[in-house]
Amino acid sequence: RRVALLGVPIEIGAGLRGTLMGPAALRTAGIGRVLEQLRITVEDHGDMARPPPCRDAGPTPANANYYDEVKSWVGAISARAHELARSGAVPLFMGGDHSLSMGSVNGVARYWQTQGRPLFVLWFDAHADYNTPATTLSANMHGMSAAFLCGEPGLDALLGDEPRVSIPPDRLDLFGIRSIDPLEKELVRARAIPVVDMRAIDEFGVGVLIRRLIDRVRAANGVLHLSFDVDVLDPAVAPGVGTTVPGGATYREAHLVMELLHDSGLVRSLDVVELNPFLDERGRTARVAVELIGSLFGMQISDRVTPSNALL
Ligand code: ARG
Ligand code: MN
Ligand code: MN
Ligand code: MN
Repeated sequence: RRVALLGVPIEIGAGLRGTLMGPAALRTAGIGRVLEQLRITVEDHGDMARPPPCRDAGPTPANANYYDEVKSWVGAISARAHELARSGAVPLFMGGDHSLSMGSVNGVARYWQTQGRPLFVLWFDAHADYNTPATTLSANMHGMSAAFLCGEPGLDALLGDEPRVSIPPDRLDLFGIRSIDPLEKELVRARAIPVVDMRAIDEFGVGVLIRRLIDRVRAANGVLHLSFDVDVLDPAVAPGVGTTVPGGATYREAHLVMELLHDSGLVRSLDVVELNPFLDERGRTARVAVELIGSLFGMQISDRVTPSNALL
């Protein structure tokens, strides 16, 4: 197995600066080392450079902060994502704020379309990110990525020359959500997007709910992209994010999600987004994110090298 790491240091999609340091923090927390310990071949493609401004950005839509800059990123990210997926590796996009997924998911979706495999997107997030310029209260584009990917109108020229691939709304799963804006909620309902909110997780547990999704993907002969927004975790576990929401996934729930996804063998690409090292406490959030990625790639509790073991 081969994993292709790509840093995507974008921060202007979020309301707070600092996610551009995310890729560096994930590397410092040992993302490459953890994967190599699992006998995975790691190709580190470094960090994308800030793309030059689009020559013809076209008209700028209202209610979309830093639209031109986000646009130049998203087109470039989609092209890289397509290329990495085609190489046969599992691309791992290290964010960066969640607007990067408009490019990463579009690019991998383009690849899977040529393979005739339906792509499902697991949006593991405290938020739905299903706003459009017409529904947003903040104008921050990281709150619009899922809607954009499902073909909602309002950011139609965002990909420039890159072909746009829409994810059918029934192949997007919002998992772990607990914060949604009023008009955003109406849109999610109108599109009948599958939602597993924290209330459902409390009632049924993540094991049952993730298995249900895995069964759907398998029945469709599909593959899965995991879009992991670190703010899905409870802020007590993961304080290093700009948009904390109380009542999030516990350490144990998040690991179980990753372990079940690993066992399914269906995850072919992922994003790790919204880590903001400027807000973190002594690297805690970066470390937890790396541990969870370890579980996603097959780390087992019984194999886990604990700090006390490491000293022996
Ligand atoms: N719903 C809010 C907004 O649209 C918050 C979005 C937070 N998104 C994120 N990727 N952290 O502004
Ligand atoms: Mn291409
Ligand atoms: Mn998000
Ligand atoms: Mn979020």
